[in-house]
Order: sequence, then structure tokens, then C-alpha cells
Amino acid sequence: MTDITSQTQAALAAIGAATSLETLEEQRLDALGKKGWVSLALKTLGGMSPEERTAAAPAIQSARAAIADALDIRKAALEAAELEARLARETLDLTLPAAASPKGSVHPVSQVMDELAEIFADLGFAVATGPEIEDDWHNFTALNMDETHPARAMHDTFYFPDKTSDGKDILLRTHTSPVQIRSMLDQGAPIRIIAPGRVYRSDSDATHTPMFHQVEGLVIDRDIHLGHLKWTLETFFKAFFEREDIVLRLRPSYFPFTEPSVEVDVGYSTEGGRRVVGGHGDAPGHAWMEIGGSGMVNARVLEFAGVDPAEYQGFAFGLGIDRIAMLKYGMNDLRAFFDGDGRWLAHYGFSPFDQPTLSAGVGAKA
Ligand code: PHE
Repeated sequence: MTDITSQTQAALAAIGAATSLETLEEQRLDALGKKGWVSLALKTLGGMSPEERTAAAPAIQSARAAIADALDIRKAALEAAELEARLARETLDLTLPAAASPKGSVHPVSQVMDELAEIFADLGFAVATGPEIEDDWHNFTALNMDETHPARAMHDTFYFPDKTSDGKDILLRTHTSPVQIRSMLDQGAPIRIIAPGRVYRSDSDATHTPMFHQVEGLVIDRDIHLGHLKWTLETFFKAFFEREDIVLRLRPSYFPFTEPSVEVDVGYSTEGGRRVVGGHGDAPGHAWMEIGGSGMVNARVLEFAGVDPAEYQGFAFGLGIDRIAMLKYGMNDLRAFFDGDGRWLAHYGFSPFDQPTLSAGVGAKA
């Protein structure tokens, strides 16, 4: 009995004197660890007669409790002291310059979107946006594609399982054209906007990714005709590719939301295995490459969007941003755009300070 009392007192004294968490842990193992003397003493109770056990147990139990309490108290005190010391030691001088400069770069798609906005702003276009999660009315119906229209099937649409409260299908927009509808409904005519953004189709290979980028253009006013469309696109591409010899070809096509519809081709040549925009597509060593769809906005679309087709008409176009970015900056695999590989970004990315401006150039590479 006295043995346990003096052993407990010695342990309590050692615990109280412990100056580090390590020596405290040694004390704990010494007493309460699997082979600690308290644990061993507790084990001896099993071999005692009931009377002996009743006599011996309380002293051992209270020794265990006293040591455990003392360990807790000392541990809290040591931890608090350690935190104090660390706070006093670790000061941070916020006035020092940063040790490393930021490593990020601007993705070519973002850079090209800024370039687009800069060039079209100069032509009097505002930037409009719409939701990527659309309903089928804005994405299809109001663009003259009713439920049974075969063009719906060609869009490889991602649908959501639920519907809007008024029963419309919900989908990821398959093109930026629904922003035409939203802009007309919001602001009426006249209108002059571009709408760059993400679009989604269930399609994937070297030139198609399930998410890609388009820029929509929409001009609605009185007396607008196809000549305005051709001039606008030509003027844009000359500024975008920073060369005067851009030649466009408008080829008859079909889109439900434009009438007439034209596909836009640009003349190019191949230099060192790489396509270089410029020149007449029929000239020797040249060819035509499709870069977008366009046309005069279908009168039915104007009606859906609340614009009077007797008074107003206009043109619309849709260009693939990723494709014109690849052409301008010489990348050949679209999938690399969205891999998030730091080495690719370090090579093709732009400095955040390289803001495209008409005066300093929209093509300056970092
Ligand atoms: N929305 C069409 C597409 O994604 C492109 C387009 C836009 C065509 C505007 C005509 C007018 O294929």
C-alpha cells in the first residue's frame, strides 16, 4: 500500500516537473503504458481473492486516476507554452517582397476571347452572355427547331434528367445561338452583340471535345443585308490574324435559324506543315477552310424573340473559338486545350500583362 502511495507521489512529481511533451510521454508509458507499473498492479487484482481485491483495488484505481489527471493537466500546460513560444518566434514581415513570382498564365482560349471582345467592341458590339444550362425552348424551339426537327438529333445534346417547372427539357447548350434569343427578348431591336462562351456536345476526337467554345454574333437593325455580314467578318479576321490578305468565301448552306444560310470559308496555304490563313482559296498552293456558320436571321426566329420582321432584319454568325485560336497560335490537337498540363500552358499561355488592345496589337505573344 505505502509502496503504491510513494510510487504515485514520485510519478506525480515527475509529471509536474516534465518540461517537454516527450518526457511527459515517457512518464505516461512508465505508469499507464501496457507494461507500466499501474497497469501491472491492476493486472495482479485478477489473481486475488475477493477480500484481498476489495482491499487493494481502491488504492490502485485512485493512483491510476490521479496520474491520468496530472498527465492531462501537464500536457495542456506544455502545449499552451509551446504555442506561446511559437507565436513569439514566428513573425511574418508583410512588407518583404514575395520570394517567388506567380507562375500562372492566361489560357489561349481566354486570350482569344479578350481579343475578340476588343476587336468587336471597336466595331460597336457589346458582349452578351447566357446560361450554359439552358432549356430546349431557347436552345432549339425559338431557333426554329421544334421537337421533331431533324437538326436536333445532329446536336448530340447532353440532357438533364429533370425538367423546368413549366415542363421544358433542361440541357447543356449545344451552341451560343440561344444567346441571340435571350438578347432580343431582353433588349429588343436594334442590337449589336457578340456572345463568347462554352458549349457542349457529346462528341470527342482530335478535333472535337465534349466542351468547346463558340462566339455568336448578332446584328439586328433596319436594312441589314448579307454584305454587312461579309464585311464584318472580313474586318474582324483581318484584325484578328493581323494581316490584310484575308479572303472569305460564303458558301450556301442550311441552318434552321437563318435564311439564307451561308458557311464561311477562309483561304489559307500550308507552310511547314502548318496552316497559315491568308490569300484566295482558289489561288495556287491555297485552299478553303470552313471557319463558321452564318446567315440572315430567319423571320420566324425574330417573331419568337419578339422582334417585328416587317421592320427589322439582321445577320447572325457562329465561330469556333478553339479552332481560330489553333489557327492563330499554331496548336494542332484540340484536346490539349483542356488537359490542364502545366507544360502546355507554359508554352502556349499568355502573360496576364499581355492585354490585347487595338493600339498595341491583339496578337502580341508573351
Ligand atoms: N449555331 C450554329 C452551330 O453551332 C452556328 C451558327 C450561328 C449558324 C449563327 C448560323 C448563325 O453550328
